[in-house]
Amino acid sequence: MKNLFDLSGKTIAVTGAAGVLAGGTAKYLQEQGAFVIYLDLFQDKVDETVAEAKKISEKCCGYACNVLNQEALDSVYEKIMADVGRIDVLINGAGGNMPGATIGPDQDVFDLKIDDYSKVLDLNLKGTVMPTMTFAKAFKAQGSGCVVNFSSMSAGQCLTRVLGYSNAKAGIDNFTKWMATEMALKYGDSIRVNAIAPGFFVSNQNRALLINEDGSYTERGQQVINKTPFRRFGEQEEVYGTIHFLISDAAKFVSGIIVPVDGGFSAFTGV
Ligand SMILES: NC(=O)c1ccc[n+]([C@@H]2O[C@H](COP(=O)([O-])OP(=O)(O)OC[C@H]3O[C@@H](n4cnc5c(N)ncnc54)[C@H](O)[C@@H]3O)[C@@H](O)[C@H]2O)c1
Repeated sequence: MKNLFDLSGKTIAVTGAAGVLAGGTAKYLQEQGAFVIYLDLFQDKVDETVAEAKKISEKCCGYACNVLNQEALDSVYEKIMADVGRIDVLINGAGGNMPGATIGPDQDVFDLKIDDYSKVLDLNLKGTVMPTMTFAKAFKAQGSGCVVNFSSMSAGQCLTRVLGYSNAKAGIDNFTKWMATEMALKYGDSIRVNAIAPGFFVSNQNRALLINEDGSYTERGQQVINKTPFRRFGEQEEVYGTIHFLISDAAKFVSGIIVPVDGGFSAFTGV
């Protein structure tokens, strides 16, 4: 019987591919036999990442690309079409938070820095919408394709202090459903758009917020653990399988969903 999870013929473009979750996923997918295109902001990071990826196989390449710069996106799209010839999957991993868009422990909402709020909205929401608009042109031309976006636990329920990022990720949930609907109604059932909503994974951006230097949990880290039935943070490789499923033929009838990968966080009231 056909292996529904076979990725060997697929070409997968990943933004934020020098980062933790998207970068780890990209390497995993390459190990599964896919051709992976690594995209991230700076050339030196991309070169480093591709050099590592070449140790897995020759089925990879990389380009520096700011997901908020339409000219850069168009130019990378043209290069990919010339060099690789097709894109089957886009994984929108570029994203993140910044302190000014967050309410500090001794602040309230009126201290929000609106410029930083806008930057975080842009990076997370427009930084997903713009690459999708650019690369989905290939899906329209081919009549097939697939997108996976990165949402967050903060999209569907309120996470104190984190305003800009939460608003942006809620926008990603809506965009995921909207784009899934638009693609299917206009171009048929072979273009699918889904998202994963990771729970709490320790990354470079949130490590200091969650874990003290001695390895114990910060107060906020402990609050997260208290609302996570698994009583631990996620390990980066725990997002790989869900993304593998969503981009594979095993999910052929799946579009417009946001899958929590969260150790039960979203199911639990905390009580
Ligand atoms: N780590 C978590 O706990 C967690 C939880 C929920 C959601 N997420 C989301 O998962 C995704 C990946 O997160 P991560 O933890 O791997 O973050 P990360 O910081 O390790 O990786 C993000 C990558 O995006 C790149 N990037 C930033 N701005 C860019 C731009 N303008 N153009 C192109 N690339 C740019 C960065 O250089 C970095 O390599 C993000 O969308 C994040 O919001 C993470």
